[in-house]
Amino acid sequence: MNELLCAKGIEKVYRAFGRAPFYALKKVNISLKKGRCLGIVGESGCGKSTLCRILTGVEKPTSGEVLLSGRPVRAKENRGRMQMVFQNSFEAVNPGLNIGGILSEPLENLFHMTKRERLLRTGELMEQVGLSAQDLKKYPRQFSGGQLQRICIARALAAKPEVLILDEPLSSLDLSVQAQILNLLAGLKSEQNLTYVLVSHDLKAVYYLADELAVMRDGKIEKKSCSLPQFRIQ
Ligand SMILES: Nc1ncnc2c1ncn2[C@@H]1O[C@H](COP(=O)(O)OP(=O)(O)O)[C@@H](O)[C@H]1O
Ligand SMILES: [Mg+2]
Repeated sequence: MNELLCAKGIEKVYRAFGRAPFYALKKVNISLKKGRCLGIVGESGCGKSTLCRILTGVEKPTSGEVLLSGRPVRAKENRGRMQMVFQNSFEAVNPGLNIGGILSEPLENLFHMTKRERLLRTGELMEQVGLSAQDLKKYPRQFSGGQLQRICIARALAAKPEVLILDEPLSSLDLSVQAQILNLLAGLKSEQNLTYVLVSHDLKAVYYLADELAVMRDGKIEKKSCSLPQFRIQ
């Protein structure tokens, strides 16, 4: 058993008063080895984001379990080991904090770094995602969507995660910027042996980055395939 991330029989039922229960996820199974990327594609509303939230432990499944290195995932205990990157980077950051402050939060909370250590590390993180340490004083509104998505990736990396859960990270970006972010993610994955779950409705993006593919429909994984052919986006 050398799976890093494993989800077994995940079901999620949403119940609202006066309505029939809604089965958002039905017996979903996932297993992913370290350093691999699982692409998840499927129509809007099929349960992709719900699955992402359950994988990271921020939402509990109705039944089934998620294991990280063989141990049950709980949001608090796994703080840092799994990080999420979302579709809308503008909504994902605090507009009142400058970039230094945004990147410092996980460094303070998880590693209790001193101010000096944080300054050094935030600069390194900016450079890792192709931005400059000089931009740390700027605020989110001073960046484009693509730059801000890089900052969100940097914030996720600040926690030194083993798994990155990327929920439609490209959907709000222009095509050329999408390609840049994909290249950045591909580089980080091979440099740091990161494990990705990449949710997208764009099959081309998934083909580029993913080693295996799951197709979701109506809360179920319909098809799985391993060893995807890789091709580069120019
Ligand atoms: N907290 C919730 N309460 C009730 N229904 C929800 C909740 N979250 C998601 N759903 C429903 O579950 C289904 C799957 O949603 P979601 O996981 O966001 O899909 P996707 O990310 O694939 O577009 C949708 O029909 C959505 O309306
Ligand atoms: Mg979604």
